[in-house]
Amino acid sequence: MTNVAVVGAQWGDEGKGKIVDWLSERADVVVRFQGGHNAGHTLVIDGTTYKLSLLPSGVVRSGKLSIIGNGVVLDPWALFREIEGLREQGVAVTPENLLIAENAALILPLHSKLDLLREEARGPAKIGTTGRGIGPAYEDKVARRAIRVCDLTDLPSLSERVDALLLHHNALLRGLGAPEIDRQELLHALIEITPRLLPFVANTWQRLDAARRRGDRILFEGAQGLMLDVDHGTYPYVTSSNTVSGQAAVGSGLGVGSVGYVLGITKAYTTRVGSGPFPTELQDEVGRLLGERGREFGVVTGRPRRCGWFDATLVRQTVKVGGIDGIALTKLDVLDGFESLKVCTGYRIHGEAFDHLPASPAAQAAAEPIYETLEGWSESTRGARSWAQLPATAVKYVRRIEELIETPVALLSTSPEREDTILVHDPFAAR
Ligand code: GDP
Ligand code: IMO
Ligand code: MG
Repeated sequence: MTNVAVVGAQWGDEGKGKIVDWLSERADVVVRFQGGHNAGHTLVIDGTTYKLSLLPSGVVRSGKLSIIGNGVVLDPWALFREIEGLREQGVAVTPENLLIAENAALILPLHSKLDLLREEARGPAKIGTTGRGIGPAYEDKVARRAIRVCDLTDLPSLSERVDALLLHHNALLRGLGAPEIDRQELLHALIEITPRLLPFVANTWQRLDAARRRGDRILFEGAQGLMLDVDHGTYPYVTSSNTVSGQAAVGSGLGVGSVGYVLGITKAYTTRVGSGPFPTELQDEVGRLLGERGREFGVVTGRPRRCGWFDATLVRQTVKVGGIDGIALTKLDVLDGFESLKVCTGYRIHGEAFDHLPASPAAQAAAEPIYETLEGWSESTRGARSWAQLPATAVKYVRRIEELIETPVALLSTSPEREDTILVHDPFAAR
């Protein structure tokens, strides 16, 4: 038995939440290792919908330990709003089933303010961030001025850290012509939230190491997608963390050898929220239909997602940079009823053929997809739970995708419901 890391293989919203929830039945511990509440993960269990942003998607099952790892940027106010929402849905989140890394960096109210101010200042060149303060919080982390969870327990040092942080931020705010942050107000807010947060705080790397040594199964839950990775994505239209599988180790405090099988999640077509290049985007009736059938609206911001054909060139690339061993192909049902389907097999950029998306933003923006056309199917695949329930042309579509991305399909998803899932091979049983 091995551990499993789940990562998005496109631009996010691939259905990671559903797959992590489904896989968590087989896991003992689920750990989030990057991102923050920019993530929006949807679980549908027996008709009830749960929307998670910061909490690991195993939290809805009883008897599983959820961990928010050191690689996550944590907004404590958002965390308690989410815990409260789940409590209203009958899910208890307590220090018994949730632990938070003491070395995780905090997202403060000033981070989301700055995020929004900067987006406004960029005008039409905006990234289209979720406005949650993710970028500014990670910047403070690498600049070594972040307030971390462990700082909350030491008031004199917290006060010094707040001063150092505000020295930077207030200078920035003055430059932007925005009101400065009041030191006392921030300190007071932190002191107020601390007693609620502390019961959850732990040395999570040690807990994970103990779990690993006991032979417990660990499920690493990625947020966003590999094309939003700050190194490997469509920079600068990316998020501010590494979303590749290597980050599962870094962001949880285990060695890379503990990560195990890497499962990439990809939709059977492509979507993206926010700005940035998207070679197979369809700004026509087909794109509109995909969005409508796939209910493509962001969980966090409610923005409509941009839609397009499956880009096998892109996923082949993310499979490689992300060290993906197998794919969970989701939303196959959204393609029901299309007479024919297109799949991108390469790009043409200023007349030259490419088998990958180059790093230059100008080249990415100019990339024109080279398509292969496949036969569609008129039957419904929605809710299928075995290969036998899929029409032959749908199976052919899946097989062709496997060939093009050079990776096998481990799981198939045919509706938002937890159990509408086809297991091809068990990631936990691999190797
Ligand atoms: P995540 O961010 O990767 O967890 O994905 P989101 O939850 O943001 O977006 C995926 C959306 O697709 C959610 O509304 C899911 O309920 C839904 N979904 C997941 N798998 C399937 C599927 O196989 N078919 C359909 N129709 N919807 C799905
Ligand atoms: P899940 O986990 C889709 C996008 C934003 C924006 C860019 C930067 O649900 O798949 P940020 O707020 O992170 O600085 O925004 O990244 N983005 C996502 N897109 N799914 C997500 O998460 C995303 N998280 C961030 O739309 O383009
Ligand atoms: Mg999402």
